[in-house]
Amino acid sequence: MTASPDPPMAGSFGHPRAQAALAERPGALLRLLEAARKNLLLYLPGHPQVAASLHEFHAGLGVILKSRGSVRFDIYEDAFFLGNRILLEESLQTPGLLEELMTNHVGSVEFLQGAPLQEATRFVELLAAAGRQSHLGDAVAAAGLQFIKTGPPKELGKGEQKATGLAPRELYRIGLRTMDALNYQAVQGAPLNLRNARLLGNSMVNVILHDRHALLGVAALYQHDEDTCHHSVDVAVLSLMLGLRIGLDEPGLLALGTAALLHDIGKMSIPRSLLGKPGGVTATERSVIERHTVHGAGMVQHLQGLAQTAMLVALEHHLNYDLSGYPRLPWAKKQHLFTRIVAIGDFFDASTSARRTYRKPLLPDQAMHAIVTGAGKLFDPTLAALFLNTVGGFPVGSVVRLSSGEVGVVYRPTEGKALQPQLKVIRDAQGAVLEPVLVDMAQDQRRVLHCIDPIRAGIDLTAYL
Ligand SMILES: [Fe+2]
Ligand SMILES: [Fe+2]
Repeated sequence: MTASPDPPMAGSFGHPRAQAALAERPGALLRLLEAARKNLLLYLPGHPQVAASLHEFHAGLGVILKSRGSVRFDIYEDAFFLGNRILLEESLQTPGLLEELMTNHVGSVEFLQGAPLQEATRFVELLAAAGRQSHLGDAVAAAGLQFIKTGPPKELGKGEQKATGLAPRELYRIGLRTMDALNYQAVQGAPLNLRNARLLGNSMVNVILHDRHALLGVAALYQHDEDTCHHSVDVAVLSLMLGLRIGLDEPGLLALGTAALLHDIGKMSIPRSLLGKPGGVTATERSVIERHTVHGAGMVQHLQGLAQTAMLVALEHHLNYDLSGYPRLPWAKKQHLFTRIVAIGDFFDASTSARRTYRKPLLPDQAMHAIVTGAGKLFDPTLAALFLNTVGGFPVGSVVRLSSGEVGVVYRPTEGKALQPQLKVIRDAQGAVLEPVLVDMAQDQRRVLHCIDPIRAGIDLTAYL
């Protein structure tokens, strides 16, 4: 293919604001590269769409390299990194590019300042043809590219993986979008991009290992949203907290987190009208809903490396500890450990959430009470006790009444002291709004009495978490 002459400043980066945004987020270059690669695969060379996306990629390259000599993207554990910062969003949005590079044993791509359009074009052509050749790295070297280099895969140094640089809120937001995309694929009957669920699970594990309570606070912020994607992410957060508490290692946490994210994926095969049906369902409708366990297990069977646990969790998560519940599994002697963990997180999130259209949601302390009283029958008693201990009797985000009559918001549990969390006192006994005062209840004379409904009390949690 012959490259056309360089346009002055192609694509949408002519505007200074667009240029500034791109220069600040170099990972966006990966999306431009992926768009150009896909267009080359879809259209004949010379098609206007191909030329436009190549120009866009080249223009993006110019903007990003204007103020720096080079930019290098590394690939570790199914994700792109820039320095030690994970490019999670970009990795999730360019699964084809990532896959192509990984199967071609490419561990890094570096762009140097001054790459002409011809070279950028040649690189994308080699990338698009990568499926038909054995080593992309060799092909790039053979093509004599001066400004674009690829490198072999590298192992991550010990401890490096945890430095993802992702803020918990950003991860949560990306998590919601990822699960939303996955649900959409499931609803459409399209092949599921299960690698993205694993990648998300991995990032959640990394963030939680860095700060174990970080995601709990973020999840609490969204507790009352109606979206089913929230449920998957929240259950994963709660399951990981419990997994961490019982000392699971990193691969174990990854398998648990991913299985938790996918536990309800089978629901996507059930008509929406049935799921949110107010006023209960008929016996036939109930049996259709209950099939989400079996459907889900089938849907995750191609999850590379983690399929077995994800299938078991999807299949068993509505079984109770005493094996009552559904589906009936006459051969089962015990639920998998991960299912017993996910079942507790699942119950807690489902029962406290406003997503329940047909039943009033429980307050967090009521849900916790139900878990403790259901121990031995509904829930694994050891795990139920540990859950109470880890998440606390008044979990993060709970709005509570103190023995003094004041009102507080729980922002951190105190491990081992389930009823004495750390909180911010936000209202006095007369209901007047206070400048938040941090109180460690383990060191205080006052006691936490019970939860109150933040919506009815007119309290906006985002101001305090
Ligand atoms: Fe379920
Ligand atoms: Fe669920």
